[in-house]
Amino acid sequence: MSEPVRLEDRVVVVTGAGGGLGRAHALLFAAHGAQVVVNDLGGSTFGEGASVSAADRVVQEIRAAGGTAVANHDSVTDGARIVEQALDSFGRVDVLVNNAGILRDKTFHKMDDSDWEQVYQVHVEGAYKVTHAAWPHLRAQNWGRVIFTASTSGIYGNFGQANYSMAKLGLYGLTRTLAIEGRRNGILVNAIAPTGGTRMTEGLIPAQVFERLKPELVSPLVVYLGSEQCQDSGALFEVGGGWVGKVRWERSLGVGFDPREGFTPEQVAQNWARIGDFDGAVHPDDSVQALQQMMENLQRHA
Ligand SMILES: NC(=O)c1ccc[n+]([C@@H]2O[C@H](COP(=O)([O-])OP(=O)(O)OC[C@H]3O[C@@H](n4cnc5c(N)ncnc54)[C@H](O)[C@@H]3O)[C@@H](O)[C@H]2O)c1
Repeated sequence: MSEPVRLEDRVVVVTGAGGGLGRAHALLFAAHGAQVVVNDLGGSTFGEGASVSAADRVVQEIRAAGGTAVANHDSVTDGARIVEQALDSFGRVDVLVNNAGILRDKTFHKMDDSDWEQVYQVHVEGAYKVTHAAWPHLRAQNWGRVIFTASTSGIYGNFGQANYSMAKLGLYGLTRTLAIEGRRNGILVNAIAPTGGTRMTEGLIPAQVFERLKPELVSPLVVYLGSEQCQDSGALFEVGGGWVGKVRWERSLGVGFDPREGFTPEQVAQNWARIGDFDGAVHPDDSVQALQQMMENLQRHA
């Protein structure tokens, strides 16, 4: 038998939890004993409108199942208010799941400033505001878990999602640095790139597959990442349809030219196959490891 993942006495904020993946995360956290702040502005996928009912419904569901939750209807761009709600209602904040999101899909040549800006505001600025407001509390108590929601669109790119890809991979950069800054204070920070059948993906995923990509099949990873048991930090996971995998960077050994002599575009062309040869590739996990081959090249030609 595996050890139960416990979250009793933990206060968890899930943003955008009025539906889709966030709702499933909130329900599972509550089922594991956490006190949950269910945040949702209640707008459309496009990022328009607002309604209190989305978050309120999820709170009712949690309470009906015997759990503890309160609703919050602020936008993540007013992140401090959401964290205040956690402190006012439950006296602390322990786990933050940055999940709220919208789409403004358009090919880049048709995208206007507001499509770019709105997506940036909700995903990046929103995640920043909520996390920045919670951070001092997590530091002071020397314990915290933060989960950011990235996307395969950011990792691999996706047609018509320049704004969204930028925002989603940006959150992974934020994850990496907050993992470094947070570790000393017991704050672990990870990112997920989920796939789930929600209103965001309805019509984009074939109906039969959509049905099987239940949002509930993402949440077990999120609850684990929010728990005491999880000791990873700075990691990125792809998850969906009952499958979980971990993503890391891979880099070729590359080609070292003599830095004293410099090198020419022609030499780049000549060595192109070796530059992109992944035989014996390395997997740098921090910026010191990332510099290793470069530093060795300098030493080789000292
Ligand atoms: N569904 C997928 O396959 C998929 C894939 C990759 C990434 N994601 C990401 O997962 C997250 C959840 O998406 P979903 O698929 O459940 O979609 P969803 O539309 O069901 O959920 C997003 C929720 O965020 C809320 N929201 C939007 N703007 C907000 C704001 N400013 N403040 C507070 N709440 C706000 C919405 O009201 C909505 O309830 C998003 O960040 C999305 O980009 C989803």
